[in-house]
Amino acid sequence: MLRTAILGLGHYLPERVVTNDDLAKMFTTSDEWIQQRTGIVTRRYVDGDVGVSDLAVPAAQRAVEAAGLKMSDIEFIIFATLSPDYQFPGSACLLQDKLGLPGIGALDVRNQCTGFLYGLSIADAFVKTGMYKRILLVGAEVHSSALEFSDRGRDVTVLFGDGAAATVFGPTDEDRGILSTHLHADGRYAKDLWIEIPASCYQPRMTKEHMDEGRHYPRMNGRKVFKMAVETMPQVVHEALAANGLTINDVDLLVPHQANLRINEFVGRELGLPPEKVYHNIQRYGNTTAASIPLALNEAIQEGRAKKGDIIVLAAFGSGFTWASSVLKL
Ligand code: UT7
Repeated sequence: MLRTAILGLGHYLPERVVTNDDLAKMFTTSDEWIQQRTGIVTRRYVDGDVGVSDLAVPAAQRAVEAAGLKMSDIEFIIFATLSPDYQFPGSACLLQDKLGLPGIGALDVRNQCTGFLYGLSIADAFVKTGMYKRILLVGAEVHSSALEFSDRGRDVTVLFGDGAAATVFGPTDEDRGILSTHLHADGRYAKDLWIEIPASCYQPRMTKEHMDEGRHYPRMNGRKVFKMAVETMPQVVHEALAANGLTINDVDLLVPHQANLRINEFVGRELGLPPEKVYHNIQRYGNTTAASIPLALNEAIQEGRAKKGDIIVLAAFGSGFTWASSVLKL
């Protein structure tokens, strides 16, 4: 049976390391508060005018190299991000140009923390139908240019970091690859985690008053996000396991979206997974949203925590609200 396999992974993080103490110099917070509530110790920020498509270039190059391919082998690009370089055109088009691939299709996915899993499901469908054989999927975010470094935005600002990660997908007839994807959304919660402005439903889309009110920064109902994440992530993992006739004992590693260490520890316990079967790197990078799952998966492989033949479960929850899972055999 033809399946879609991960042929290569790569990631790129900007060099500037920002500690909790660095943030505490800008607004009222503390290393203790941030670590206790979120597990985050450091995050990375870009320096200067760097967009997501810039961060994506080295991540894509590393993924293509890891796949043993040339950049010219890539037939289609999917770019998952909530922080596109510009309002339009999409960052996939900008990345396509920067990678020197004029003419190939380029698609942006705007599904926030589940963007990588939504993109993976599209790549899987394109590969399985024979439409493309070499698909580059990138998840990348530059959050730092849209965070509010003051007490008003501190609940959100401490959580997020910049970064990029990429995956090359292609067909395989070996016993490995993507076994399933499950995608969900509930738009009733759209305003519980969002950036409102600029908004095409307002005339004009953005005013000085909007900016004075901070409506161009991310806003979040943290408690509701936390509660829904710990409910839906175990559900969507069970859904994935049932669809594949697997049990929790078959899982070698859960690689969850890295939004909050406490959420992921709770999800692991709820599923009955021992701590060593749940991967975390949020301590180092914060929440890198669309980049977080491929970044975590790549580091898990590099550290020997995920190996060829392992059953890996990916799961995410975030803005939309959206939630999703995928089961892979590496
Ligand atoms: O991909 C999805 C992205 N988002 C998430 O996953 C977020 C999920 N939610 C969370 O992780 C938690 O809700 C937070 C970590 C954001 C907040 O933790 P919490 O336990 O829900 O805190 P809270 O919002 O109820 O606030 C508790 C206190 C408040 O002070 P008072 O009213 O008790 O005096 C806040 O003003 O903590 C205060 N606070 C802070 N204090 C220091 C809020 N942010 C900060 C901060 N530093 N950065």
